[in-house]
Amino acid sequence: MSRPPARRGRTHPSPPADDTATSLSERVVAWQRTQGRHGLPWQREHDPYRVWLSEIMLQQTQVSTVLSYYARFLERFPDVATLARAPLDDVLAAWAGLGYYSRARNLHRCAQAVMAEHGGRFPASAEQLATLPGIGRSTAAAIAAFCFGERAAILDGNVKRVLTRVLGFGADLAIARHERDLWARACELLPPASADMPAYTQGLMDLGATVCLARKPNCLLCPLQGDCVAQREDRPEAYPLKTRKLKRTSREHWWLWLEHAGAVWLQRRPATGVWAGLWSLPLLDDEAALDAVMQRWPVPVEPQPVIEHALTHFDWTLHPWRAVLESPEGVEAALGPGRWVALDALDAVGLPAPLKKLLAR
Ligand code: ADE
Ligand code: SF4
Repeated sequence: MSRPPARRGRTHPSPPADDTATSLSERVVAWQRTQGRHGLPWQREHDPYRVWLSEIMLQQTQVSTVLSYYARFLERFPDVATLARAPLDDVLAAWAGLGYYSRARNLHRCAQAVMAEHGGRFPASAEQLATLPGIGRSTAAAIAAFCFGERAAILDGNVKRVLTRVLGFGADLAIARHERDLWARACELLPPASADMPAYTQGLMDLGATVCLARKPNCLLCPLQGDCVAQREDRPEAYPLKTRKLKRTSREHWWLWLEHAGAVWLQRRPATGVWAGLWSLPLLDDEAALDAVMQRWPVPVEPQPVIEHALTHFDWTLHPWRAVLESPEGVEAALGPGRWVALDALDAVGLPAPLKKLLAR
């Protein structure tokens, strides 16, 4: 039989969105099963507490670092009830070194909300999970997909990169309307209800982490190369569109390290900002301020090697100066509220990583 002649003036209809979605999700699932990451401890889990913990840790920290923290954290806090009744300082101490400490405070608050509002059981839908402290829409969807097989779309940083490239989505995601559009597209791309949602969800994450890299993606290894607009345009790195670039700044502070009788003077950082809620040495703006404080005590104060600490938005230069006091009197009057913490009990308080390293010397 001969084909009907192509009629001029009519465009071919694009295949219905469902077909595209099916083939794309099938490829992601098949690829995840053979090429994706397997054997990570939280992949064996359907316990929402454990999956939730791993997803929060993985939000801003790479897998290799999370592995050891995850196991230790679960030893110390094996279930949501234990975590909820632990003092916040214990949680911060277990988190110390993972960074982004608002995650630890939200973790604690979330555990308390699960106890108080959900009878100690995590709710079993993405929609309800997203109402809990520290659980955004994407994390809620990931937990629901992994634990309950729910058909919910994820859109974390890695997945945004994969999907904007596949779709050739060039709009600025800093604008809420465009972000909503991308969420809608992510929902359209979900596999049919019968599909393996954990494999699909993990597959998108794994593609973003191992193939569709921010720089020099390995398109030749990608199961989506046939469907990918950015690859066809030969400019994957053009997506996602980057607008306002963060300007890095630098800061410099003097860090006063006071010791007395085997203890160090620490102050709690404010609840917001850098190292929020952790315990730090007093920070002073310059050497003159440090000298002014040290006038009170007739002891030498010695400079220690300078610390360069890179944070998300700025580079921080810290000048530690150490003095050993003969008496603990007058420190609070000079520096504001704080407390003496024994050097051999530092593990019990949440310390920023560079301070932990400094005091371990
Ligand atoms: N990053 C966020 N969630 C993850 C997961 N489940 N596996 C690996 N990396 C992740
Ligand atoms: Fe990313 Fe290339 Fe795959 Fe497109 S083909 S999703 S750009 S790795």
